[in-house]
Amino acid sequence: DRTLKIAPSILSADFANFGAECEAIEAQGADWVHVDVMDGQFVPNITFGPATCAAIRPHIRGIMDVHLMITPVDPFVDAFAQAGADVITAHVEAGPHIHRTLQAIRGAGAKAGVALNPGTPASAVEYLLDMVDLVCVMTVNPGFGGQKFIHSQIDKVRQLRAMIGDRPVHIEIDGGVDPVTAPLVAQAGADVLVAGSAVFRGGSVGQPQVYGDNIKAI
Ligand code: DX5
Ligand code: ZN
Repeated sequence: DRTLKIAPSILSADFANFGAECEAIEAQGADWVHVDVMDGQFVPNITFGPATCAAIRPHIRGIMDVHLMITPVDPFVDAFAQAGADVITAHVEAGPHIHRTLQAIRGAGAKAGVALNPGTPASAVEYLLDMVDLVCVMTVNPGFGGQKFIHSQIDKVRQLRAMIGDRPVHIEIDGGVDPVTAPLVAQAGADVLVAGSAVFRGGSVGQPQVYGDNIKAI
């Protein structure tokens, strides 16, 4: 179904209170919880790993959507699956064997996602569309929240929607999504919108009303 799903990213949440923050965003309308894993190699930032995912899992009723901004990916797939990730997304740029990585993710029992950085063309996933459940279009250069949306990616969303055809594959948009940019990507064919700063801004730990208003505004 093409109803728009909102996946707040806890990269913009309070790092000292992830459990409360996950419960708050779900209580106020979040469809998925987007978990940004960064290793300081693939992106110039470090966040957290499988242990944090396992710790927040009991605080998430719905989908835990794990975005791996790491390289290599394969040695860690099982750990994130065992931590309870429902969706595990790897970057096509993370190494030479994305096809094998996606097989490993599904083999570990999670749904498989493939992410594309802004400089990577839609054609990079041409031979992957029958082995993924999600294509994540980065609309910022990965590593940080609160960055400016890169408008050139809207055309990539349209191209991907055409390539996917009637396959059951979500298009997720990640970076700079807010009430202004959300309609642009929804109209282009996206159906899962990640939003970090647009959801958590103006709030403090576990302030569900603020998060709810921000989520509804997207
Ligand atoms: C960036 C992450 C995004 C980020 C989105 O590397 O993958 O998920 O948290 O944050 P905003 O919505 O603030 O751009
Ligand atoms: Zn992300």
